[in-house]
Amino acid sequence: MTDINTLESWDRDNFFHPSTHLANFARGEMPNRVVTGGEGVFIEDINGNRLLDAFAGLYCVNVGYGRQKVIDAISQQANQLAYYHAYVGHGTEASITLSKMILDRAPAHMSKVYYGLSGSDANETNIKLVWYYNNVLDRPRKKKIISRWRGYHGSGLMSGSLTGLQLFHQQFDLPLSQVVHTEAPYYYLREDGGLSEEQFSAHCAEELEKLILREGADSVAAFIGEPALGTGGLVPPPKGYWEAIQQVLNKHDILLISDEVVTGFGRLGSMFGSEHYGMKPDIITIAKGLTSAYAPLSGSIVSDRVWQVLEQGTDKFGVFGHGWTYSAHPIGAAAGIANLELVDELNLVANAAETGAYFKRALREAIGDHPHVGEVRGEGLLCAVEFVDDRDSRKRYEPLGTVGGQLAAALLKRGVIARAMPQGDILGFAPPLCITPDECDQVVAALKDAVTEVLG
Ligand SMILES: Cc1ncc(COP(=O)(O)O)c(C=O)c1O
Repeated sequence: MTDINTLESWDRDNFFHPSTHLANFARGEMPNRVVTGGEGVFIEDINGNRLLDAFAGLYCVNVGYGRQKVIDAISQQANQLAYYHAYVGHGTEASITLSKMILDRAPAHMSKVYYGLSGSDANETNIKLVWYYNNVLDRPRKKKIISRWRGYHGSGLMSGSLTGLQLFHQQFDLPLSQVVHTEAPYYYLREDGGLSEEQFSAHCAEELEKLILREGADSVAAFIGEPALGTGGLVPPPKGYWEAIQQVLNKHDILLISDEVVTGFGRLGSMFGSEHYGMKPDIITIAKGLTSAYAPLSGSIVSDRVWQVLEQGTDKFGVFGHGWTYSAHPIGAAAGIANLELVDELNLVANAAETGAYFKRALREAIGDHPHVGEVRGEGLLCAVEFVDDRDSRKRYEPLGTVGGQLAAALLKRGVIARAMPQGDILGFAPPLCITPDECDQVVAALKDAVTEVLG
């Protein structure tokens, strides 16, 4: 094996890392980490450090690391047939079987699944589907997409535009003009402290309707949202939010895209976030938990209502001109089948609900009363602790983000990986869905120590 020092210099000389301070990395002013292995909720690096990964990679390794069943499925598929395309009616046993398994788990009104490789490309596909849909229905003006500030939907040209975080727009000439953003359903950060959750939800729905009327309802095609905000802060919606939003969308004939890249396949303690919150989406985006990231695979699940129009479209215009070379890649599909079987066999959806509730309770007991803890929140195994300068007034730190970064570093020193979420001082926890109460206790103990070190 190549020695550590050589790997480090190759890394700094050749590897363009995503979401990284490029100059600091190249100059050696920030550490690199070479990850060599993983088992259960732990990863191991080249220096022999064993770390409890309380963010499951990028909240994707839902079944945990090192699962032999998924590894064998990938290996068998590679042996039998590593690749064939899915164009013009081609498929493999794996891609056909996985489609059936996804639809068996999805809300009853969903109809078909289209495959990509990443959450970003699935959302690119979704917007093309929405535009195509309105062209088939002869509504060429109905094309704008409404997304939320603090939403995260990827970092492509369209998906990055849908994302409502400054970091993903600035200096990239985004967002594109077809995308407009509305208020984030972030109850803790509401301006009017006197509002109840229900009142805040009604306020978000009113803001949405004002925006629709300002833009012109005949120009707005779809609304996209994560059932619970992810990268924007790990924020479950306030009570009544989706009900209020869906009323507005239905009134103006606007499609709903539920981006379940994080919430799909169990993270919130339900198979889908849409069912968890009573949403009736027209399209669902899936990725991460579909294969637990053992192989890249994403999907767009389309409803009966959308599918009927897509079929009409090809009768009218001919072949549906959208495809990727790697759509429905057999290795990804094989990984997906084994992964979804494992989710069932290990009862991981129920574990996300139960152990998630245990974890949130333990976090609250350990640090909930700390004067700089503004809020401990979460749903299932998607939890966050938001730190603030002043708890009573909910005043955030200035500059924003420094304390969050320091806390994540202090946790890492104690062998636990959490994620400092952007645009806040928020520590995010989204461990593999197989995490045990004991392992949650390890995370909480490390966090308690880290908070004392950084904030006193
Ligand atoms: C809700 C959501 N949508 C889309 C994406 C983009 O997925 P990918 O990074 O696979 O392109 C992410 C990634 O974190 C996500 O959280």
